[in-house]
Amino acid sequence: MVINKHVIMHPTLLSIGIIALCVPAVAAINNEIDRRAIVRAFNPRRNVSSKISPMQVGNGNFAFGVDMTGLQTFNPFATMSTWGWHNRSLPTTPGQTSVEDFVGLDWWTHAKLVNYNQPNPAQDDISQWLIRNPSRLNLARIGFSFDGQDTTENHLQEKTQELDLWAGKISSSFRYKGATVHVETWADAASDSVAISVESELLANGSLGIFFDFPVPSEAAKFEDPYVGVFKASGHSTSLRQQNQSATIRHDLNETSYNVSFNWDSKAYVSGPAEGTHRYVLRPLGREKHIALAVTFSPVGERSELPSVDQIKAASTSWWPSFWNSGAFVDLSETTSADAIELQRRIILSQYLTAVNSASTLPPQGLVNNGWYGKFHLEMVLWHLLHFARWNKYSLLERSMPHMYSDFLSSSVERARLQGYEGARWGKMTDPTGRSAPGEINSLLIWQQPHPMYFAEVEYRSFPSASTLKKWDTILTATADFMASYAFYNESTGVYDLGPPMYPVSENTNPNATINPAFELAYWRFGLDVAVTWKERQNLPIPLKWVDVRDNLAPLPLAGDAFALYEGIQDMWAPNSTTVTDHPAVSGIFGLLPPPKNGPPLNMTVVQNTAAKIRETWTWNSVWGWDFPMLAMNVLRLGDVDQAVSYLLDPLFTFDEAGYPGGGSRVPTPYFPGSSSFLLAIAMMAGGWDGQPGPHFPKDWKIKVEGFVPGL
Ligand SMILES: *[C@@H]1O[C@H](CO)[C@@H](O)[C@H](O)[C@H]1NC(C)=O
Ligand SMILES: *[C@@H]1O[C@H](CO)[C@@H](O)[C@H](O)[C@H]1NC(C)=O
Ligand SMILES: *[C@@H]1O[C@H](CO)[C@@H](O)[C@H](O)[C@H]1NC(C)=O
Ligand SMILES: *[C@@H]1O[C@H](CO)[C@@H](O)[C@H](O)[C@H]1NC(C)=O
Ligand SMILES: *[C@@H]1O[C@H](CO)[C@@H](O)[C@H](O)[C@H]1NC(C)=O
Ligand SMILES: *[C@@H]1O[C@H](CO)[C@@H](O)[C@H](O)[C@H]1NC(C)=O
Ligand SMILES: *[C@@H]1O[C@H](CO)[C@@H](O)[C@H](O)[C@H]1NC(C)=O
Ligand SMILES: *[C@@H]1O[C@H](CO)[C@@H](O)[C@H](O)[C@H]1NC(C)=O
Ligand SMILES: *[C@@H]1O[C@H](CO)[C@@H](O)[C@H](O)[C@H]1NC(C)=O
Ligand SMILES: *[C@@H]1O[C@H](CO)[C@@H](O)[C@H](O)[C@H]1NC(C)=O
Repeated sequence: MVINKHVIMHPTLLSIGIIALCVPAVAAINNEIDRRAIVRAFNPRRNVSSKISPMQVGNGNFAFGVDMTGLQTFNPFATMSTWGWHNRSLPTTPGQTSVEDFVGLDWWTHAKLVNYNQPNPAQDDISQWLIRNPSRLNLARIGFSFDGQDTTENHLQEKTQELDLWAGKISSSFRYKGATVHVETWADAASDSVAISVESELLANGSLGIFFDFPVPSEAAKFEDPYVGVFKASGHSTSLRQQNQSATIRHDLNETSYNVSFNWDSKAYVSGPAEGTHRYVLRPLGREKHIALAVTFSPVGERSELPSVDQIKAASTSWWPSFWNSGAFVDLSETTSADAIELQRRIILSQYLTAVNSASTLPPQGLVNNGWYGKFHLEMVLWHLLHFARWNKYSLLERSMPHMYSDFLSSSVERARLQGYEGARWGKMTDPTGRSAPGEINSLLIWQQPHPMYFAEVEYRSFPSASTLKKWDTILTATADFMASYAFYNESTGVYDLGPPMYPVSENTNPNATINPAFELAYWRFGLDVAVTWKERQNLPIPLKWVDVRDNLAPLPLAGDAFALYEGIQDMWAPNSTTVTDHPAVSGIFGLLPPPKNGPPLNMTVVQNTAAKIRETWTWNSVWGWDFPMLAMNVLRLGDVDQAVSYLLDPLFTFDEAGYPGGGSRVPTPYFPGSSSFLLAIAMMAGGWDGQPGPHFPKDWKIKVEGFVPGL
């Protein structure tokens, strides 16, 4: 790319054939696009199980991943939920037997000792316990039990599988011993339930059953990918209670207990468990070639209705069309280039997968596997969830926002208070109690702090009402109070510094030497500005400290005539150095964030130079997931639509045949921030941003978009 040092390039105006429906916020969408046809054209199909990703049905809080058989027969993909968590027993080491015993470490911070939630070498057992617990449970494995013990997927013939995205149904079929087996797998829209229906002659002579098996969490693995838990393990118990045409298996793992209740529609009987296992088998007893069962998972103590198979099918058949018909949509079907078809495929499959895996009541981490023991990360909520707002799917976003911040407010206020700060310091690697796992990076990362401002501001754009202002006010106030008190007034330079110690987005610097990272400074300024604006909109007093910090933050550091990762970094842009590996967060200054609304403007020459430097020198095999969409948004705002598309289609930014985003060598696959950040970038292309309303697609593409509002 040739860089014109004096001119900001503007997004190319689009040629004929474009219908851009600019809908006012919250207006009903008058669909001009045949959404059903476009969605169904991308139904994923398989004829062999993937080794890395399942096919899933689910609802955001519960997901059931299956192999080629429509169940978890050969590949034990997971059944995961928002509520299913487990603690191992606490250590018995003297002085380390309770959570309260843990003391963390003191580090010098601007000439004061501050206590950080970091693993303490003198307390290794409780430190490790806190990192690993609680971990997310794989609730059960449900698969076919063939009469031959050693049946493998290779023994099945004529295998086909299709996920009907419009109905939320997986249809699988195969032949075994000369007989065909047809399977349908559905999930309920509103409960943690699956419906399974099977047709086969094998059911009529007792040679096909359905097993239920129960794992315990594995001891060691930070990443359990793709399978979760260990079977045939001790240390837990199961018990069966069987009625006529229904049964409950209760699973007890010390403090955690839940029920798996199921009913079926033909003559069948549950037996088991076999000696030394927790495997039960439901076997048909009659001559019927059909069985359908509904399976519900629920924590013991929580009464939940057991929906019928028909209810689950009906709920799925109505929920998914309403999902696809609501919110925004992008139609690239009139563009025949392979790039457009692949973008459309990723758009559709990413929407399905984020609805199944990320639309949860807790911050998401995905329901396929366990990354980081299944815990969620508060710096990642933006990349996981913001796209729901930008695609006008607020009903999904509202499941977690903003109440996740309210839920974690008191623990975050306490975290800040213990460190001598005001307001709320949001945690990082978090469990449902709001506890952040001990970790040097976990305790020193700061870029999760302004996220509430981003969510609030985007929401206000769609719902500019007093109730939006009120809903976020307490959270933004506590967030801004922390951000203002965290910034350190440097007497000698007369500006507010961020760090040390701290970790920037890329987590690859010496925290004691990291001061004034460029992205975090820009994000602090943005966040405080939103907080100030929020008070102005409500005619409430504006804390002077917020304004003072916003207007006197250290300038964005430079290395030559491009941004530096942080102030004083050596050899920033040397090819292959560690300074140009990992997340290229300097591209987020203009990619994720809008230009500053007040104070000194961004030097656009520097922004352009930075984009060019990244392309020339970055270590590409160290980049993954949301990096590519962030880079795409940066060059998009700079006017280079074609480069944005090539970032989104970069060979290192992978999506498999069922749409699951690769994690690369660093993080588990699938790594769902890849899907949601991809949708964020597409929303920016489709809906544009302030001053540059969309759509922004390559010049010769024929596109239709509807339901977007411009981004920040
Ligand atoms: C499986 O699918 C692939 C790709 O669609 C196809 O090439 C192959 O022939 C199929 N195999 C069977 C056994 O259907
Ligand atoms: C795990 O233990 C912690 C500390 O006692 C507790 O706060 C949390 O609720 C427990 N979680 C589960 C799932 O038992
Ligand atoms: C940072 O400084 C603290 C003391 O304040 C020290 O304990 C720690 O080891 C240092 N960390 C690194 C990575 O140098
Ligand atoms: C059940 O039926 C299948 C297909 O007709 C046949 O291959 C199999 O041997 C039968 N099994 C038994 C136990 O009769
Ligand atoms: C339950 O607690 C016992 C005793 O501490 C332990 O041996 C067992 O492994 C625990 N079970 C699980 C599933 O963690
Ligand atoms: C079991 O349930 C079925 C269907 O609800 C019913 O037709 C049958 O009579 C019941 N059998 C017994 C033994 O209760
Ligand atoms: C869980 O299963 C047990 C055993 O069948 C039963 O007694 C209990 O009522 C069930 N609890 C819930 C909430 O379904
Ligand atoms: C003030 O800023 C300068 C330049 O960034 C830095 O070297 C110095 O350590 C800072 N002073 C304090 C007290 O942190
Ligand atoms: C912007 O940055 C360029 C490159 O470092 C520099 O030459 C120019 O003077 C800067 N412009 C302003 C207004 O600071
Ligand atoms: C950087 O690394 C790549 C791949 O290892 C190598 O091909 C290239 O020559 C290196 N560049 C420099 C400037 O060292």
